[in-house]
This record gives sequence, C-alpha cells and structure tokens, in this order.
Amino acid sequence: MTTAIDRLQTALDTLRLKAVEARLESLLEQASKKEPSYADFLEELLSCEVEARRGRYLRARLQLAHLPFVKTFEQFDFSFQPSIDERQIRELCSLRFIHEASNVIFLGPPGVGKTHLSVALAAAAIQSGFAAYFITAHDLATDLGKAYREGRLDRRMRIYLAPKVLVIDEVGYLPLDDLGTTIFFQLISGRYERGSILLTSNKSYGDWGSIFGDSIIATAILDRLLHHSTTINIRGEVGAD
Ligand SMILES: Nc1ncnc2c1ncn2[C@@H]1O[C@H](COP(=O)(O)OP(=O)(O)OP(=O)(O)O)[C@@H](O)[C@H]1O
Ligand SMILES: [Mg+2]
Repeated sequence: MTTAIDRLQTALDTLRLKAVEARLESLLEQASKKEPSYADFLEELLSCEVEARRGRYLRARLQLAHLPFVKTFEQFDFSFQPSIDERQIRELCSLRFIHEASNVIFLGPPGVGKTHLSVALAAAAIQSGFAAYFITAHDLATDLGKAYREGRLDRRMRIYLAPKVLVIDEVGYLPLDDLGTTIFFQLISGRYERGSILLTSNKSYGDWGSIFGDSIIATAILDRLLHHSTTINIRGEVGAD
C-alpha cells in the first residue's frame, strides 16, 4: 500500500519539483512542530522551489556570460585606489545605466582593477536578471573576422548584440586590422542606444587612433560609445604616473 508521502514524492517527481522533494521530510517535520497556517506552509514549500530555480537560472546566466573570474565590488579595495570616485561606482551599482543603454569605460594602466570592476558590474547585472557577455577585443575581432570570411557575420554578430550588457576587455593592447576595425565599428553602432557596453582600455581616448589605424573611424566609434557613457579613469600607483 502506498502512503500519502509516497504519492506526494511521485507527484513532486512528475512535476520536477526537485528542491521540494529533497527537503520534503524536513519541511513536514518542521510543519508538524510549528503548525503554520495552510497558506504559510504552501508558501514555504513553493518558495523553496522558486529559490532553487532562481539559483539555477542565475548560475546558467553566469556561465553563459563567460566571465574570466568572478570578482565583486566588496573585494575591491577603494582606499587603495583613491583615483576612483566611490560615489560614481555606487551610482553604477544602481544599474540605472543599463536601463538607459548607457556605456561604462574603464581607462588606466595594467593591473589597476579595470577588468575586476567591469566583471563585478557584469555579475551584478546578471544577479538583477540581465544577460551579460564578456570577451576581449582581440577575441571579438578574431571571432567576427572568421564569421565574416565564412559569410555568417550577421548571425554571429547577434551573440554580441543580444545581451543587455557586453564587456569588451583590453581594447588597445593589440591593434586591430582594417577588417577588425570595420567590424568593431558595426558592433558599436549596432548596440548604440540599445544595450550597454562595459569597456576597458589601457589607452586614453586621444590614442585610440593608433588602435584602429584610422582616426576617422576611431572618432566615429568614440562618438557613439561616449554619447551616453561614464568614464572611470583609474591611475596607477600614486606618484607613479
Ligand atoms: N583596488 C583593488 N582592490 C582589490 N583588488 C584589486 C585592486 N586593484 C586590482 N586588484 C586585483 O589585481 C588584479 C589585477 O586587476 P585587473 O585584472 O582588474 O587589472 P586590469 O586593470 O584589468 O589590468 P590589465 O590592463 O593588465 O588587464 C586582479 O586580481 C584584481 O582583483
Ligand atoms: Mg584587465
């Protein structure tokens, strides 16, 4: 003879309510002690499943984003980096810039936390339910260059146009060739006023002509990128620059 618990377990299994199934015994035990109202008990039961699903969804989104590491704002020592206005960072953490499809550009020499902060911002965006994607400028140009040569640029471009937040890391470490520059321009234009770009670069805007090999395209890229944007200039060690 099957018991009510057995039948419940089968029903939970059929409905794939795995989190409730795993916690069924302790939930029932707790309920028999605390004697909550029917509504409270059902609410607790279902919120356990809702939480588990949210966790799975966020983990999947985090994996899809290809972040090189997970770092948070809490792990960033602002006292060590007085060139950053913490208020400006707090404003970015409100994620209003994402709703406005505005961009954030981190500029500064190597090792000052540009990637750390952009990753922290992308992770915060994912936690709030936005899709994000991380790629270096070099990998982006290589990937889209290959897609162009294989006649599938438009389709491939969607990967970088679709997420609400796109991190383009290390713009300027390696110069882009003509094709890379043209594709980069297309991407920036395609995301303009539609989705946010978080970009890091070791080069100040005045030197961007040398990244793209063409100062006219560099200006056109900067125009679109900076129209709605926040620039965070990070200096190296105090006294070192
Ligand atoms: N102020 C800081 N507080 C805590 N950790 C920091 C800080 N600045 C840098 N770091 C750490 O130092 C390492 C280098 O930082 P990060 O990779 O973000 O530098 P970067 O500016 O992107 O450099 P690069 O231009 O070479 O890519 C990371 O592990 C980062 O977490
Ligand atoms: Mg970096």
